[in-house]
Amino acid sequence: MAQIVLFENIHASARAVFAAAGYTDIATFSSALPSAELQAALRDAEIVGIRSRTQMDRDALAAAHNARVIGCFCIGTNQVDLDGAMQRGIPVFNAPFSNTRSVAELVLGEAILLLRRIPEKNLRVHQGHWDKTAAGAFEARGKTLGIIGYGNIGSQISTLAEALGMRVVFHDVEAKLPLGNARAATSMAELLEQADVVTLHVPGGKSTENIIDAAALSRMKRGAILINASRGGVVDIPALHAALTSGHIAGAALDVFPTEPKSADEPLDSPLLGLPNVILTPHIGGSTQESQENIGREVAEKLVRFMEFGTTKGAVNFPELPFIEQSGCARLLHVHRNQPGALATLDSLLASHGLNIVGQTLQTNGEIGYVLTDVDGDVTDAVMVALRDHPITIRCDRTA
Ligand code: NAI
Repeated sequence: MAQIVLFENIHASARAVFAAAGYTDIATFSSALPSAELQAALRDAEIVGIRSRTQMDRDALAAAHNARVIGCFCIGTNQVDLDGAMQRGIPVFNAPFSNTRSVAELVLGEAILLLRRIPEKNLRVHQGHWDKTAAGAFEARGKTLGIIGYGNIGSQISTLAEALGMRVVFHDVEAKLPLGNARAATSMAELLEQADVVTLHVPGGKSTENIIDAAALSRMKRGAILINASRGGVVDIPALHAALTSGHIAGAALDVFPTEPKSADEPLDSPLLGLPNVILTPHIGGSTQESQENIGREVAEKLVRFMEFGTTKGAVNFPELPFIEQSGCARLLHVHRNQPGALATLDSLLASHGLNIVGQTLQTNGEIGYVLTDVDGDVTDAVMVALRDHPITIRCDRTA
């Protein structure tokens, strides 16, 4: 049975999935390891599980010469040399959806707190003041929530917000099915002009940099609220600071920042510090016990599916093949250089060993091809050696 090595205190839910699938040879480490120790720990690993701090760089990949698959038990995957892993025929999986609900709940909670001006009122009570007033405090019911980016998180917020009685309008660069009674705005400008609360759920990067700038903020209704739990570069912070201090924007909640502290002791550097109508959180939108548990389960299931069936759907660096029921006696997972005749070469190699192909599915991504082949016949060690030794082959395995 494959050896599994898990780093960085991955949630016990992962171990439960592995155990249910019969994988019991599991080594665990409570933290990320320095390079030399990491390489030693990886020596026999076939399944590698990491979180964001373990650097699966070129040297680590070379040390992990038995590795068949890597699971990032987190969202980001830039701690892995993804291209290097692909070149070695190793798919890399992550958990892009497991913390969706956690972000959605935080955003709605913040919308309610800001509509009621709770951050300021909380501060005043702590300071010895008892400002009992309804001025500037509103219910969420009946207010318009504008969601920019109607993907996993944006659409989840949409249904929760409607349950609170909010009206939902959204803007996305792709055509999206509106959930419930939500309505697609004709443009981001139209959304900004209508919404009492605007929340951002777009990806980071050049295409979304500062989409909320001074001009966008000035389109928002006077007294509106802005929430950003997506990526720090999406909001022009000096422009938001100006809109908050002028009173045009009544409140804001930010979970992400253009530059974020690298350690617990480093303070955030932002002009928004100290503003009483601003909630600042340390990029914890997706950080809950439930999301950690979900991540453990989601990634472990993807790793087991790959080992049992060769499924690579959702892999971040690899041709994606969906779950396919096994049709023959044995299944071969073959990764090869994507060049003309590769599949024909593989098939004639199998035929020369008396193996009859009963099912075959190929997917390529430009550089490599990945093919699942179900065969009838005896896949002996000699067949595996012949397949692995062939110059077209990057990697070849049998399913568990
Ligand atoms: P997703 O990929 O499911 O959805 C993003 C949506 O934005 C897509 O529908 C896309 O078409 C749309 N989009 C892209 N560019 C756009 C633009 N210029 N205008 C309008 N729509 C645009 O992503 P998901 O999972 O919903 O995550 C959204 C964001 O939240 C990401 O930036 C992610 O990194 C961040 N995030 C933050 C967390 C936190 O802890 N604060 C935790 C999880 C995700």
